[in-house]
Amino acid sequence: MQIITTKQEILQQVEACKRQHKTIGLVPTMGALHQGHASLVQRAVAENDVVFVSVFVNPTQFNNKEDLEKYPRNLERDAKLLESIGAHFVFAPTPEEMYTAQEMNTTFQYDFDGLDKVMEGKMRPGHFNGVVQVVSRLFYLVQPTKAYFGEKDFQQLAIIHQMVERSALKDTFSDLQIIGCPIVRQADGLALSSRNERLSESEKKLATNIYKTLKSSMEWAKNATVKEVEQRVVDTINAIDGLEVEYYEIVDQTTLLPATDFSHAIGCVTVYSGPVRLIDNIKY
Ligand code: PAF
Repeated sequence: MQIITTKQEILQQVEACKRQHKTIGLVPTMGALHQGHASLVQRAVAENDVVFVSVFVNPTQFNNKEDLEKYPRNLERDAKLLESIGAHFVFAPTPEEMYTAQEMNTTFQYDFDGLDKVMEGKMRPGHFNGVVQVVSRLFYLVQPTKAYFGEKDFQQLAIIHQMVERSALKDTFSDLQIIGCPIVRQADGLALSSRNERLSESEKKLATNIYKTLKSSMEWAKNATVKEVEQRVVDTINAIDGLEVEYYEIVDQTTLLPATDFSHAIGCVTVYSGPVRLIDNIKY
């Protein structure tokens, strides 16, 4: 496995793959890798000739300076994991390599057809512009056949589908397939997340109540309205000392608009454990 830090080297390697008609899998990450990322990479390795994994904490998608600074970084550990599961190239550029000073400070404005106006988009203005800025740049550089994203960030996945399949960029990425992969959980149900590294053992234990509550809501949904279930999830999690819900919204899985019933619906939650922001979701 080779670690690459410049765009020029990436372009050379991609060119060589293309010359040999190799299929390319891309797994974009921000590092601090866990078994959730590993499952994406393993799938990419199984489905492509060559796999690139990007490890880049993208400054333009953070609207909270502290969150950016505290985001866990450990390239050496990440590289060991990636090598052990068969990735071929790790792309780990510096922010300066990725963006010009002007790009770093420009607010990109993509049209997401309203998908960015709810949930994460509402709470983190500009976040998805930053995500699409970096993901589209990675797509241009790596020219993947398939790109892999986790379903834990369900809204992100919906927005990337929109960019590739329905936005003004769709002709540029017409041959690219976006693959959404299921959430990986600990045995106790806690969704794996790089942010879990910032939780103490007791906080992790408390955080298992998030998925427990989402699972209970599947039962509640049999005899209640969408609004009643939303409220009960919020009340149940907020009743646990140390957890605070930012939002729980049950929305349509494609449009992300508020669901009126549970068919084709997904419930998306964001919960604070102290300063750490945890997200999870469940499909009804
Ligand atoms: O999901 C993430 O880790 C990031 O948002 C992504 C897709 C790697 C873009 O920085």
